[in-house]
Amino acid sequence: MSGTRKRNVQRDNLQLPTYVSKNRNGSKKKFRLQPVHFMFLLVGLCIGLIVTSAYDRWYRSRLVYTPFDSLIEHEDDMNKFWGTYRPQVYMGMKTKSPQSLVTGLMWLKQNKKFKGEPPMRHTCEQGDQILKYGWVAHDGVNFGIQDIAERGYMLRTEFVKRVNGDHGGDWTWRISGRQTGKEPITLSVFFYAATDGQGVIQPVVESGPNGLRLTKIQGETEELGKFTIKFPEENSGKKSRYHTATTKAEGLHKIKDAAFMQMQVREEGPKGKENYLYYLTDAPSRIDSKKAKSDVIFHQVTLELPFEIDIVFESGSWTNRRSLLAGDVFTKHLTQLKDKFDKKFEATFPLSDKGYSQGEVDFAKAALSNMIGGIGYFYGQSVVQSVYQSAPVLNWEAPLLTAVPSRSFFPRGFLWDEGFHQLLISKWDRQLSEEVIMSWLNMVNLEGWIPREQILGDEARSKVPAEFVVQRNTNANPPTLFLAIESILQGFDKQSITEQDRKFLKTIYPRLKAWFNWFNVTQSGPVQFSYRWRGRDAKTDSELNPKTLTSGLDDFPRASHPSDDERHIDLRCWMALAAGTMEKIAEVVHPGNSHEIEPYRQTHKILTDNNLLKELHWSADLGVFSDYGNHTDRVYLVKKDFPSSQPGQRPIIRTIRATRTKPKLQFVKNFGYVSLFPFLIQILKPDSQQLHQILQDLKGEDDLLWSNFGLRSLSKRDPLYRKRNTEHDPPYWRGQIWINMNFLAVRALKHYADTPGPYSKLAGELYAELRRNLVQNMYAEYVRTGYLWENYDDVTGKGQGSRPFTGWSALVVLIMSEQY
Ligand SMILES: *[C@@H]1O[C@H](CO)[C@@H](O)[C@H](O)[C@H]1NC(C)=O
Ligand SMILES: *[C@@H]1O[C@H](CO)[C@@H](O)[C@H](O)[C@H]1NC(C)=O
Repeated sequence: MSGTRKRNVQRDNLQLPTYVSKNRNGSKKKFRLQPVHFMFLLVGLCIGLIVTSAYDRWYRSRLVYTPFDSLIEHEDDMNKFWGTYRPQVYMGMKTKSPQSLVTGLMWLKQNKKFKGEPPMRHTCEQGDQILKYGWVAHDGVNFGIQDIAERGYMLRTEFVKRVNGDHGGDWTWRISGRQTGKEPITLSVFFYAATDGQGVIQPVVESGPNGLRLTKIQGETEELGKFTIKFPEENSGKKSRYHTATTKAEGLHKIKDAAFMQMQVREEGPKGKENYLYYLTDAPSRIDSKKAKSDVIFHQVTLELPFEIDIVFESGSWTNRRSLLAGDVFTKHLTQLKDKFDKKFEATFPLSDKGYSQGEVDFAKAALSNMIGGIGYFYGQSVVQSVYQSAPVLNWEAPLLTAVPSRSFFPRGFLWDEGFHQLLISKWDRQLSEEVIMSWLNMVNLEGWIPREQILGDEARSKVPAEFVVQRNTNANPPTLFLAIESILQGFDKQSITEQDRKFLKTIYPRLKAWFNWFNVTQSGPVQFSYRWRGRDAKTDSELNPKTLTSGLDDFPRASHPSDDERHIDLRCWMALAAGTMEKIAEVVHPGNSHEIEPYRQTHKILTDNNLLKELHWSADLGVFSDYGNHTDRVYLVKKDFPSSQPGQRPIIRTIRATRTKPKLQFVKNFGYVSLFPFLIQILKPDSQQLHQILQDLKGEDDLLWSNFGLRSLSKRDPLYRKRNTEHDPPYWRGQIWINMNFLAVRALKHYADTPGPYSKLAGELYAELRRNLVQNMYAEYVRTGYLWENYDDVTGKGQGSRPFTGWSALVVLIMSEQY
C-alpha cells in the first residue's frame, strides 16, 4: 500500500527531463545531407505514415460502437413500468427493464387435427388472416381494450393497472370470447409467464371442483421483487378444462416452440366426428439446459364460447390491498378509465365538435390507441458496420422505447417513422413523447450517427431477414425527429414550458448537435449547401432505378446513374428543417448565446433562401423542383441470357436494366413527393412563383398527383409510374398514396392558407378537399377491411402493403382534428 502511495508522490513531482545534444568534443561540426539520409528520412516518414494511418483507422473503427455519452437515464415513472411493450404479440406485457418477466397470450381453435403444428396464434402475423385486430382504446398508462375478430368468433383482451408498492403495482387481464357465427366453438386460451435470463417462477397446482389445476404462479425477479399471478376460476357456468406445462425455452423468441414441444393431441368423443384436443403436458423439458435462457409456465384453459377469464398479477410489495382486481372490481375500474379516456380524447382531438360521426370518432380512437398501444420496449445490441471495419460488430447494449410502424410486419424501431409517430403521441402525452425521443437519442454514437433500423434483442431479430440486420454508419435516414421536436416547441407557445421540458431540451441538445453535424458533414453534396443521400448502389444492373433506401422513399426515382454529382432536394429540405429547429432549441437552452445560436441561424437562412434553392434545384424547363444528377429517362428492364459458370449448362436468364439514351448531368425529370419538399417543409415564401406552380400542379387538369384518395407519390405521366424496380420488386413509392407525406401536404396547405399571400385562397381550397379525400377513404377502408394500411392504391383507394399499419398512417387523427 505504502509503496503505491510513494510511487504516486514521485509521479507528482516528475519533471520532464531535458536532453541536450552535444557533439562529443563539444564543438560544432558541419553536417551535410547525403542521399542515404534522404532514404532514412523517407523510410521513417513512410513507417510513420503507416503507423499513424493504422492508428487512425483503428481509432475511427471504434467510434461506430462508442456511445456519444453515458446513456440518458430516464427517471423511472412507476406508473409506466408495466406496459404492453411487446407490440409484436397479440397480447403481451413486460416491464421497462432489460431482462423483464414477460407475459403473453396464445389461442387455438380446437376440434380439428392438423398435419403439422396447429395454427396457434401468438405473434402478430399477416398470414394468420385475422379479420381485424387492434386496440380500440389504450391510454398508454393504465388500461387498454383490444378486439380481435376471427372467423366465427370474437376475442377481447383488456387490461387494467393499479399502481401501488415499489415495483409498478398490480394488473389484471380479462380475456373474453363470444361466438359470431353459427358453429359452436371450443377454444383453448394459453396464458404464459416467462423469464428472460433472470428470476424464478413456480407453478402452484391445487385441486378444485374440476380437478387439479394451476391456480397461481409465484415468482421473484430483480426488478419486480416477489409477485403472484392468480388464475381465479371463471364463472362462465360451463365446464372448463385445464392443462399446464412448466418448461424452458431458448429465449423469448422461442416460446411458441416451447409450447409445441409440450403438446399432444388426442381424439375425444364419438369416433368419425372430428373432435380432437391439443393439450399441454407437464413432461420434463427437452431443451438442453445450457441453451435454456427462459423458464416458461403455460396455463391452458379450454372452454366453449362465450367465456370470460381474469388473470391477476399482484406485486408482493403492496401488502394491504383491499380487493382482488377481478370480476366486478375490474369492470368498475375499467369503466372509469374508459370514461376518462373518452373525455381526454374529445378534449385533445375535438372530433365530435367538428361534426364527425360516432363511427369516425371510434376509428380515430382506434388509430391513436394502436399507435400508443404499439409502443415497445426493446433491449439489446444492433449490428453495425463502419467503413473502417472489414466485418460488422455489435453495438453497445441499450434499451429503446419506441412506437412501431406495424405490429405484424415492422415490430421494431425505425428512425424516420418515429418522428412522424411522435407528432401524434406528443399531442396525447408530451412526457411520453419526450421519453421516447430521449431513448432514441441514446443511440447517437461518437460520430453523431444513429442507425436507421433498430433491431434489438432476439425477439426483434427473429423478425428481420438477415440482409437487413447490419446497419452501416455511412447511411442516413430523414431526421424526422426534428419534426416532432419542432411540434413540441410549438406546443410551448400554447402551454407554458415546464421545468421538465427545459430539462428535456437541455439533455437532448448536445446529442442533436452531434447528429446535425454528422448529417451536415457526411451527407454533403457536390456543391456548397447541397446534400446527397449515401447508400445508393451505383454498380447494380438489375434495378430500373437504383433504390435510395436511406431517403426513406426507397424506389422513388432519382438520378438513373448514381454518382457523387448528385444533389437531393428532399435531404436539403430536411436539413433546413433541422437547422431551424436547432436554432429554436439553442435559443431555449442557451438564451442569448450567439456562439450556439448563430451557426444554426446562418445555416437555416441559407437553406431557406428561395433564390439559392431555385438555383440548385429548380428545373425551369420542367417547372418543378428536382434532384440533380447523372440521369436518363429512357430506361427499361429486359430479359437477357448470361452464360452459365458451369460448362455445358444452359445460359441463365436474368432481368437487367437497359438504357436507350446515354445519361448526362441534368435535373431529374420526375414529378412526385420529392419535388414537393420545399412546399411540404414550408420553405417557400407565400408569394413564391414556385409555390403557385406547385399548388396548380397538385390538382392540375391532368390530375398528375391528385386522386380522390390523397396525393399519389409519383405523377401518372411519369415513365416509372407503377413500374416494378426489378423483376422481384413491385412498385412501392411509384404511385401509391402514403399518409406521412399527405400529412405534410395538408399541413403545408393549411399553413399557406392561413398565411396572407396571393395564393392563400387556392391553398385553402386544396386543403379542404385533400383533407376530406384522405379521411373519407381511410375511414371507408377501415370499415371495409378492419385495418389502417401501409399505403393506399391511387386508382381504387384500396389499402395495401402491410396491416395493421398504425404507425404514421395513424396521423389521420391529426388530419381530422386539424392539429399540425
Ligand atoms: C453546415 O455545413 C456548411 C458547409 O460546410 C457550413 O458552412 C455550416 O456552417 C454548417 N452548419 C452548421 C450549423 O454546422
Ligand atoms: C454518367 O453515367 C455513365 C454510365 O455509367 C458514365 O459513362 C458517365 O461518365 C457518367 N457521366 C458523368 C458526368 O458522371
